[in-house]
Amino acid sequence: METENNVKKVMLSGIQPSGDLHLGNYLGAVKNWAALAEEFDCFYFMADLHTLTVRQDPKEFRRRATAQLAQYIACGLDPQKNTLFLQSHVHEHAELGWILNCYTMFGELSRMTQFKDKSAKNAENINGGLFTYPALMAADILLYQADYVPVGEDQRQHCELTRDVAIRFNNLYGETFKVPEAYIPKVGARIMSLSNPTSKMSKSDPTGCVFLMDTPEEIARKFKRAVTDSDTERCVRFDPENKPGVSNLMNIYASVTGRSFAGIEAEFDGKGYGTFKPAVGDAVAETLRPIREEAARMIADKVYLKDVYTEGAQRASAVARRTLRKVYKKVGLVEKPF
Ligand code: TRP
Repeated sequence: METENNVKKVMLSGIQPSGDLHLGNYLGAVKNWAALAEEFDCFYFMADLHTLTVRQDPKEFRRRATAQLAQYIACGLDPQKNTLFLQSHVHEHAELGWILNCYTMFGELSRMTQFKDKSAKNAENINGGLFTYPALMAADILLYQADYVPVGEDQRQHCELTRDVAIRFNNLYGETFKVPEAYIPKVGARIMSLSNPTSKMSKSDPTGCVFLMDTPEEIARKFKRAVTDSDTERCVRFDPENKPGVSNLMNIYASVTGRSFAGIEAEFDGKGYGTFKPAVGDAVAETLRPIREEAARMIADKVYLKDVYTEGAQRASAVARRTLRKVYKKVGLVEKPF
């Protein structure tokens, strides 16, 4: 855990509370995060301020922020070993976000592919927050002097921009921010949609998406309906190019059972998809059962969750405050007298 003489490098990531966690999030990323706490000083937060760039139903949004936190803890992120908090509880994010807005260029923000994608999808609500989102993200990262930011490919451009802003600021005012690096984890499976195995599993395609909170019955149903391939051989063989559906199911099965592809091929030799699909469903349901139960228990225990995010925000704020104070001083703001 964090100490004054901490030599561990800092790892930080934000997660938007924009939907419940699914199997792709779990096997592709979160499952591997638990182990990172041994090597790094880890901060994870619900990026709720970022989520406000898209219109939310307030009640549902409030429920989701803590429900999602519970799901992350249930996936193995131990609140004793990681600093877990909600972004909006640490006001330094919004404050440094404003400052960094003034050091991030209109041209840079205009080149962000996520801004272009999101404004195409939300043509009726292309707000300023959507545009300046990367400056807030830079603040999230730079406040903690993070060394590494574990993110998916879609966030690489934002991480690059964060580096550019940090370097720009350091050049103007002297060393202030650690220049972070994107950390693309070594392990982690790329899980595809069950209904459309050439696209990534995503909550926007619910029939092909297995949520961590799905019941075993729902999981069984989704796997039974999983798209397999229309090739004539109908056998369980790993061949992502020609058999994307079956290969995705094999990938999932391998991830949850630890078996090799050769082992899986042998296990289902001569057995066809009708046996294979329910077997994958069962294995997934068994893997997710303790996670779902643990998350449900925490969601019901509001006091426990509140303790976790209170303590997390206090720890985070203690770090963030130091950086913000330094920045205010460097840019020439008058020191706050209280
Ligand atoms: N933009 C990230 C996403 O949509 C979420 C995020 C916000 C984030 N702040 C961050 C990720 C800081 C890493 C670091 O996935």
